[in-house]
Parts: sequence; structure tokens; C-alpha cells
Amino acid sequence: MGQVTPRKLAELKPRPEDLDAAERLGRAELAALQRERLAATLRHAYENVPHYRAKFDAAGLHPSDFRDLPDLARFPFTTKADLRDTYPFGLFAVPRERIARLHASSGTTGKPTVVGYTKGDLDLWAEVVARSIRAAGGRPGMRVHIAYGYGLFTGGLGAHYGAERLGCTAIPVSGGMTGRQVQLICDLEPDIIMVTPSYMLAILDEFRRQGLDPRATSLKVGLFGAEPWTNAMRAEIEEAFDLHAVDIYGLSEVIGPGVASECVETKDGLHVWEDHFYPEVIDPGTGAVRPDGETGELVLTSLTKEAMPVIRYRTRDLTRLLPGTARAMRRMDKVTGRSDDMMILRGVNVFPSQIEEAILRVGGLSAHYQIVLTREDRLDAMTVTVEVRPEADEAGLRREAGARLAHLIKETIGVTAAVEVLDPETIERSLGKAKRVIDRRPGAGSVPT
Ligand code: DLL
Repeated sequence: MGQVTPRKLAELKPRPEDLDAAERLGRAELAALQRERLAATLRHAYENVPHYRAKFDAAGLHPSDFRDLPDLARFPFTTKADLRDTYPFGLFAVPRERIARLHASSGTTGKPTVVGYTKGDLDLWAEVVARSIRAAGGRPGMRVHIAYGYGLFTGGLGAHYGAERLGCTAIPVSGGMTGRQVQLICDLEPDIIMVTPSYMLAILDEFRRQGLDPRATSLKVGLFGAEPWTNAMRAEIEEAFDLHAVDIYGLSEVIGPGVASECVETKDGLHVWEDHFYPEVIDPGTGAVRPDGETGELVLTSLTKEAMPVIRYRTRDLTRLLPGTARAMRRMDKVTGRSDDMMILRGVNVFPSQIEEAILRVGGLSAHYQIVLTREDRLDAMTVTVEVRPEADEAGLRREAGARLAHLIKETIGVTAAVEVLDPETIERSLGKAKRVIDRRPGAGSVPT
């Protein structure tokens, strides 16, 4: 990992007595809790959401067919299409007047996905985000700079209420106005930042532009998520800011941020908060459940949600489940990418995260990159555009770095890519989720981000 001052780690790891009771359960107690909550959720969905009832009936299943955890695999999946077909409120399981908040995710095609929360759901959400911040090293009284966007996106408000729940001071900066982000970090001296990893890099550039030392800030921890990022990116951010970079995962359909999170003392994958969300990993082609340890598509079932219970929601995120370490709850590996981000080049599957890893192995190249897909003579081609680091901005070094990257991609991923090394600050910065893939192939919509 990066050059993080180790002293900080001992201060950050939570004491066992600070953890939620559920975080201290053993596997058997956890399984009993999950059984009970799954049975209740299946009943709740069946009795209150006609769409679920119709799907269960069509599969010849009743909630009473669920007796033990493996029985869940018999129940039908829920997909983005189910949300679209029932837009906007068709998957809600409580009367309209019990919905305390709506959020929506923009989606790349057509209508957004609308999700709803009761007061109880907002409470649960704050609890899992507070737990995530504590696992990352947060304590009551710390200041949390929140640069996830506020609004229909779940990042800003989700982080906000979690920080307040833990007893922290929330600083609701939202995304954008990068110069002001830097000023507020310097002046308000936050301990923690919550932001997408790609926007953290934009903040880093701004520190340097202003001639400020990013390692000299008050920040001890960053909770980064909402988009895939690699361990190479973690090292980059940790080194640049002298903080612990911790991964936080979630999606609006399931609740928002706080479904799973890393622990600062291990940083070895994200503990799924299994008392509220039940994970499975499936073969994306056949839908068969894969054993823990094998990579596939993550499927999540909510265990305690009221307004919008989700049964076996297909996230399209690729990962694998691993045994617990810092907590008994299972971990999910860092998400490699979404199944719909996968590019196939002459039969080889490629994810943007693999390109990111290769870029960060080459000295002189920055973590600002995009992948452009084109089609020439009916064959798909990939061009990696990446900015040179300002300190390596010299013609000979640029050429050499470009050639090394092309070679590394060929050698480690097995595909041929053209590489264009660009001037610093030429790739558009995102305020939230980075757009990594530009699809210029005829007939292609832009690849979802
Ligand atoms: O991105 C929720 C969130 C906000 C998570 C802030 C973490 C921090 P959506 O906009 O619905 O919700 O997008 C969900 O983003 O299915 C993944 O593809 C991706 N994603 C979220 N967290 C991670 C992560 C929020 N830590 C989609 N690593 C998910 C990789 C992530 N991908």
C-alpha cells in the first residue's frame, strides 16, 4: 500500500466494545438471524407487492417454501427491468404516506430508477453507513467532509446521515467547485473525506495547482466508492494524501452506500453488513449460485427494508465472497467491474480496472485515463488515452511511458491497445462517477458508467 503514516492506524481501529451488537455475532447466530429476517422479507414482499406475488406464483413458490438459507436460490431474481416495468412506485410495499424519502439513479437509458424509504429504512441506512465510517476509522466528534453529490443520488445524503448518526460533524460540501473543496479541507480540518476516488484525484490536482502539500492536511481516512477502483489506485491516493483509503460499496436499489465496507485495519475487501443484506454470487449466464471464493455476479436481498424490499437483486457487479476477517461477516472482494462494463476485444474480456492497474504500474503516467473503443474493418479496437504526470512531461519520457503501457497491456491482459499519452489536465474531470469508456463503435450507445 502507499506510504501511510502507520501511527494513525492504531488510533483508528475501533475497540470491540464500540462495535454494533450484530458485528460481534458469530456465524451461527448470524445465520439464525438471516433465516428469520429472510422469511419475514419474503412474506412482506409477497403480501404487499403484486409484482413479487406474480413472480413467485409463476415460479410455483410461496414464502413458506423458504425454510433455510439455501432455499433462497429457488426464488426468482429481480433485475433493473423489474424496476423499469413497475416505474415509478410499483415495487413499494407500504402505502404512499409511509414513504419518507425518494431517491433515484439516473441510469443511462430512459427513465431513472426510483427508490423509496420509510422512516425505519432511513434509520437502518444511517446505521449501516455509521458502521461503515466507524469500520474505516471514524469516531464520534470527528469532522467528515462529504463530497459525494447531494440530491437524488444516494451518495451525499447517505453519507451525511451516517456521519451524523456516528456522532461526527458532517460537512455537506457536495461535488464540484474543486478550488473550494481544497479551501474547506484546509480551513475546516476534517478527519475524514467521503468522495468518489476519481474526484479525489481532481482534488489532488487542485492541491498541487495551488502549491499546497496534500500530505499535510488533517485527513486521516477516506471512504471511497460509487465506482470501481483498484488497489493500485488505493496506493496512489494513500501515498499522495497520507491517509487510509477504504472502500465503501452500495447501490440505490438495495439502499445506497453502506451495503458493504472495508475495515481500516485489514483493507482486504468489503465486509457485507450481513445482518441487513444477504449476498449471493451467481454465474451470470445460468443464474446458478456459485460457492464462496468463486467470482461471478453479486446478488443481494434486503433483510430488514420496509418500503422497498428487494429479493435477489442482480447488481451486475462482479466480485467473489470471502470469509470474514476483521468481522465474522463475509467479505466481498473489490468489485472488478460491472458485467456491462466488460469489453470484448478479439475474444478477450477486458475491464477498465485492468487497464487502470497497468497504467499505474508505468512510471510517469497519471491515474487520469479513458478508454476509447472504435471499430475498424469490422474489428473492435481500443485506444487508451492517459495523461502524463506533470513531472514526467518531456517528449522522450512520454514516448517511453506510452510504449511501456502498450507492452504491459499486451503482456498482462493479452490485447493490443493503442496508447495516447496526453498533456496534463486534458481529460475531462468528473464530479462524481468517472466516465472511463467512450464507445465510438457504430451503433453503440455509450457504455454505462
Ligand atoms: O453509487 C451508492 C454509493 C454512493 C456507494 C457512495 C458508495 C459510495 P448507485 O448510483 O445506484 O449507488 O450506483 C451503484 O455503483 O452497482 C456499482 O456498480 C457501483 N459501485 C458502488 N460502490 C462501488 C465500489 C451508489 N465501492 C453502482 N466499488 C454499483 C465498485 C461500486 N463499484
